Amino acid sequence: MAAVERLSRGLLTLRLAFSKPDKLLLMYGHPDFDLFEAIYTTRAMRRLKPDPLPRDTVMKIIEAATMAPSNSNRQPWIFVVVSAAETRHFVGQRYKQAWEEHYFAANKRRFLETHPDTPEAKNLRSAIYLANHIGEAPVLIFACVKRYRDESRAGQPMVGSLYPAVQNLCLAARAHGLGTAITGLHKHFEDELNRRLKVPPEYANEILVPLGYPMGHWGRPARKPAREVTFIEQWGIRE
Ligand SMILES: Cc1cc2nc3c(=O)[nH]c(=O)nc-3n(C[C@H](O)[C@H](O)[C@H](O)COP(=O)(O)O)c2cc1C
Repeated sequence: MAAVERLSRGLLTLRLAFSKPDKLLLMYGHPDFDLFEAIYTTRAMRRLKPDPLPRDTVMKIIEAATMAPSNSNRQPWIFVVVSAAETRHFVGQRYKQAWEEHYFAANKRRFLETHPDTPEAKNLRSAIYLANHIGEAPVLIFACVKRYRDESRAGQPMVGSLYPAVQNLCLAARAHGLGTAITGLHKHFEDELNRRLKVPPEYANEILVPLGYPMGHWGRPARKPAREVTFIEQWGIRE
């Protein structure tokens, strides 16, 4: 027995000696998860279970978001985490209203009827589901960002410094087995929402990410081939 133990300890020492040092940090307190699996299977997960989420997990996911780059490392983001049922219910109602008033127009309804089996229709049905159920996600994260104050851009939100963080958030959530979707429809009721969440006017409430355990399955999203969206050396030249 002692010999087996010695052997396995020896093997462990060998493994540690040859591991890269960053691997020994246990992924900074996150589950070990393959980077490319996360990148290739993080899609808009709009069907979410209502099961509550541990606050620690949500905070770790936000920590991963804050590792993102930002212009001059300003880190101009604030993430407002909402799990109170009353606030989620309010968001759910307003989001559905915004969807119907501003997005789900007659042409889209017609498209669904005439092209029900297309990928676009599938995506639309998923977005309809979200519009009807977003308030049931256990956690809604509002990614807010500072507005510029210099003369030429005064009032504009620093969105370029927010999206990398939000994508990090989605990938980290994936590693924890949680689904996300990037949404923007809350902009239609932003003033009312910001009053409720007490977001000050120096910040824009830019992105809403519902977070929860997925009802559906992870899978590779449909994307154009890299070759189709790449030019070599000059615009228009493909390999
Ligand atoms: C800037 C931005 C705004 C979006 N707004 C919404 C939205 O309001 N509602 C929604 O259901 N999905 C929204 N999405 C999600 C996209 O529809 C989704 O990423 C896209 O269709 C690809 O989906 P897939 O990853 O499942 O293939 C948004 C995505 C981005 C990047």
